[in-house]
Parts: sequence; structure tokens; C-alpha cells
Amino acid sequence: MNRNFILYLTLMVSFIGALGFSFYFYMKANYYDYQISEATSTYSSLPNYHFVLISEEVDHEYWRLVEEGAKEAEAVYDVYVEYKGPRNSNPEEQVRLLDMAIAAKVDGIIVQALNDEMFTPLINKAVENGIPVITIDTDVPNSSRMTYIGTDNYQSGQIAGQALIEDTNGEAVVGIIANSFSSIHQQLRIQGFKDAVENIEGIQIVAIEESNNSRVRAAEKADKILGEHEEITAFFGTSALDGLGISTSMKALQRQDDIYILAFDSLKETLDLLEQGKVDAVVAQEPFQMGYQSVERMLAIITGQQVQNVYHTNTSIIRKSDLRDWQTKVGVNP
Ligand code: BGC
Repeated sequence: MNRNFILYLTLMVSFIGALGFSFYFYMKANYYDYQISEATSTYSSLPNYHFVLISEEVDHEYWRLVEEGAKEAEAVYDVYVEYKGPRNSNPEEQVRLLDMAIAAKVDGIIVQALNDEMFTPLINKAVENGIPVITIDTDVPNSSRMTYIGTDNYQSGQIAGQALIEDTNGEAVVGIIANSFSSIHQQLRIQGFKDAVENIEGIQIVAIEESNNSRVRAAEKADKILGEHEEITAFFGTSALDGLGISTSMKALQRQDDIYILAFDSLKETLDLLEQGKVDAVVAQEPFQMGYQSVERMLAIITGQQVQNVYHTNTSIIRKSDLRDWQTKVGVNP
């Protein structure tokens, strides 16, 4: 091959590469700007602030409640909240959305931060670039985020453990199914639960499995646990789809009546199962409040007000007997 041709080829490849890179960064920086102009094209004037809210799964019922809360705050204040998230749980994608929000220079970022390793560097980058960040639902307290709004995840695991002790009179062989072992909120919930039952002689945890935030996976894992430990008398699902998966599996195995199921989150289907006596207790979080308060606090930060390091929303245990009271108390927006 002659030298000129090789030189020509190298130049062409470099040129195409450079063009690709520029296009990528252009798209990255303009992604959110495009979204805001689309979304606000019907407004008579643009809202003062543009916030981005990044969830674990965009179309998940729990996260739609967080979005609803944020949108209610949007209707009260002069802000536009853009709600984003991967289709299926995918921390890499969340971090990519976070990076794009930084490139687009939005006014504030509200993000569920699933682990330190991946999220802290980007949260710090946003703050270094003058963009305030609030963590929601799951926190990375060692990052430069301004505040955290959400459940005290360790304490939610503890109250789950206490509920199990009360409901089983301290006698249970337990299998746990968690969304992901590498997510901080799941680690804290499991730890809180373990600590609560630690000194109860009659309670043993014999298996812990991951569902990858999939109801089908949770059902498969429940099958597997029961296959390997026929002595199991109780299951604890530490995130919204785990309890539903466990319940599906127990139904198929016709064990719904004798196995105790402790689920997380007040999704409609979970509450229906509670009412039918197929789930025994539910740890209820306040996703709507998380969404609403995060927008309020972001505005407080932007307008120079002091915020606390952490704002814990409530977590409570609901059983069939207190379902009506709980529903009345929280109204239509849990
Ligand atoms: C958690 C959320 C998670 C959801 C998944 C909830 O319990 O708080 O972070 O995305 O479950 O199903």
C-alpha cells in the first residue's frame, strides 16, 4: 500500500472520529434543552427553573408516585421538572442521564443514588459545576449532594424485623429477596432487618437472593429458596416487586396460606394482596412526599435557604387490620 494512501486513510478515520465525537457531545449538551423546549412549548412563558428527576425505572408504579409528587410541586412553583429514568433498572443508564443533565446545565438534579462508586463522582462533578444535587430514595451521604429526601432505609429494615417478630411470636425461618445487593438502600434494609432479629433465638435467616428488580426473577428466587430450604416459614421482600414475586411463587406452590410474607411498598396490587390475606405485612414508604419535597427543597437551595443534611419521610408497617385507617390517613396520595 503506498504511503499517501495510508496517510489519507488515517486522516479520513480521524476526521470521521472527530465528527462523531462532536455530534455526541452536541447531543449530550442539548438533550435536556430540547426536552424543556418541547415540554414548555405550551406555556406562555418559560418557568424560572428546570430540574431533572432521575429514577431507577421510569415506568415503575412506585417511581410514578415520586413523579406525581414532583409534578404537584411543579404546579405550585415556577419550575419545570423533567422526569427521566431507564426502562429497566440500570445504574449505568442513570449515571449517563446524570451526566447529560450536567452537560445541559440544568438548574437542579434530583437523583436516586444507588451506590457510591458510580454516583458520587458525577454528583460531585455536578456540584463543582454549580448545579445543586438532591438524592432521593437512596442516598450517598459522602458525596457533595446538598441533602437527601427519603426513607431511613436502615430503620425501615428494622421495623420490618420487628413486625416479623410480633407476627410470628419470634419463631420463623426466613428467606430474603432483595432487588440488588449492590444498591445501598437494599444493603441498609437487609442490615436493619438482621439487626432487629439478631437476638431472637427462634428467628433464623437461611437464604438471601437477588431479584434484579424483576417480579419474575423474585418469583424464581422464592421457588429456589423454598426448594433448597423446605423449613422456610417466612419471606421478606426488600423492594417493591420482590413481595409481589414471592406472592406469585407461593400461589403457584399453594403455600400462600402457611408462609408469612412481608412486602415492601404500598403498590395497589400489594395492598390488594394484603387485604386478601395473601401478604401479611407491608412496609409503606412515602414516594409522593419524596417527589414533592425534593422540588421544594431544591428551590430552597437555589434561593439561598439553609437545608438540613437529611429529610426522612415516614415509613410505617401496614397490616390487614390497619389498612383502612392507613388509607384514610394518607388519602389518595400515599
Ligand atoms: C425502592 C425503590 C425501587 C423500588 C423497586 C422500592 O422499595 O425504594 O428504590 O426502585 O422499590 O421496585
